[in-house]
Amino acid sequence: ASILVLHGPNLNLLGSREPGVYGSATLADIDTRLQLSAKAAGHHLQSMQSNAEYELIERIHLARPEGINFIIFNPAAFTHTSIALRDALLAVDIPFIEVHLSNVHARDSFRHHSYFSDIAQGVICGLAAAGYEYALQAAISQLNE
Ligand code: DQA
Repeated sequence: ASILVLHGPNLNLLGSREPGVYGSATLADIDTRLQLSAKAAGHHLQSMQSNAEYELIERIHLARPEGINFIIFNPAAFTHTSIALRDALLAVDIPFIEVHLSNVHARDSFRHHSYFSDIAQGVICGLAAAGYEYALQAAISQLNE
């Protein structure tokens, strides 16, 4: 099956961005590991990062005609602001897991609300880069069913 990993704004800076909050893994480290795990399980995984809301929206739109079966999404700051990205996910109707590196509930109150959690299949936060791996394992076990 085909899995798409989407990363929102500022996640291109992972590794050097507030390492005490987001860890020392770079986005390339995370994507490489996910790609290897997916391949080992017989699935295809691609990832995309963008700082632009419309690019993420258009990537989600393309996912349906492309036949993407599952999305793993860290919307980053758009988590707390973007009705447009929420609507895009509802429109394509592809199951997704929401991932955050940090525990958003232990941080600023404006990070406690997500426009995605109630329509996500599940949410993983606070487990750093491993959270993406756990999301992938969950996706793979469903795709194998
Ligand atoms: C984040 C949490 C968001 O609140 C923040 O804006 C981010 C990253 C995380 O992965 O912990 O950019 O999604």
